[in-house]
Amino acid sequence: MKIQAQNLTFKYPGESTPTLKDINLTIEPGESLAIVGYNGSGKTTLLKVLIGLYDHGGRLLVNDVPTQYFYDGQLHRRTTACFQEYSKHFLSLRDNVALGRTTSDKAGDSRIVEALSRAEGKSILEKVDLDTVLNPHGVGSEALSEELQQEQDEMNKRMGSNVKSLSLGQWQKVSLARGFVASEQADLVVFDEPSASLDPSAEKALFSKIRSLSAKRDAGDDKEIGSTTTIYISHRFSTVRNADKIAVVENGTVLEHGSHDNLMERNGRYRELFEISREGYVD
Ligand SMILES: Nc1ncnc2c1ncn2[C@@H]1O[C@H](COP(=O)(O)OP(=O)(O)OP(=O)(O)O)[C@@H](O)[C@H]1O
Ligand SMILES: [Mg+2]
Repeated sequence: MKIQAQNLTFKYPGESTPTLKDINLTIEPGESLAIVGYNGSGKTTLLKVLIGLYDHGGRLLVNDVPTQYFYDGQLHRRTTACFQEYSKHFLSLRDNVALGRTTSDKAGDSRIVEALSRAEGKSILEKVDLDTVLNPHGVGSEALSEELQQEQDEMNKRMGSNVKSLSLGQWQKVSLARGFVASEQADLVVFDEPSASLDPSAEKALFSKIRSLSAKRDAGDDKEIGSTTTIYISHRFSTVRNADKIAVVENGTVLEHGSHDNLMERNGRYRELFEISREGYVD
């Protein structure tokens, strides 16, 4: 999917100043774009506007067609998103990953296992199986409200003892696996800080899988350039640097964009942030 933003602006309802202004950006089909920038600079908002979740000013074109010419839901069906606040459901691992998108048979289960493996989460299956009900509230460490305690007791009664809790990183992998199941039919896949709870080795493998979603598919004579475009927000420069393009967002606008090499040469904010991230390892 090709995405173009032309003088894009966006204001949250009730706010007096725009959160995004003068955004100009082109992402070619099959490209990967990384978005970086300070907390609160507008990265998540930009991602949501780019996938058509919010009404905006300026123009947004998908495959050279202004988005207002698509009918409701047409773009959303071709888009998969994993957001910072992902949802955890008091459901089986199978249902947490598939959310109704696969069949409940062997073929469906193998897609779920494949998606977990792409999300670096296959080892979760050493602890729980696809039928295990996942407790979104965790157990033990925090006192549960009366209502949550009742919900948990009810699930325990219904499911026997097959209710387990996962760590934060494991939940993140479940949510990513959900994204990978959905990405099978998507031309645009977006991830908002997908690796915040992942260990470095899982993170490295995850980003190479995310980028491979964007690898241009070459179908012989019939060269298919309409392959999956990926956009991800990350604070980790070790992975950001490998994106085809990087956009630095600051105060609601794109301050710089280009490849890692272009931006390093430019000697601007990207280089500054990149060097700060490296100093962290040297000190
Ligand atoms: N629903 C909302 N209503 C009003 N303002 C909002 C809303 N969501 C975010 N904002 C504001 O918009 C600005 C950009 O927020 P956004 O979440 O896009 O930042 P971000 O770059 O993703 O930050 P982070 O790195 O912390 O995730 C912030 O000033 C924030 O307070
Ligand atoms: Mg954000």
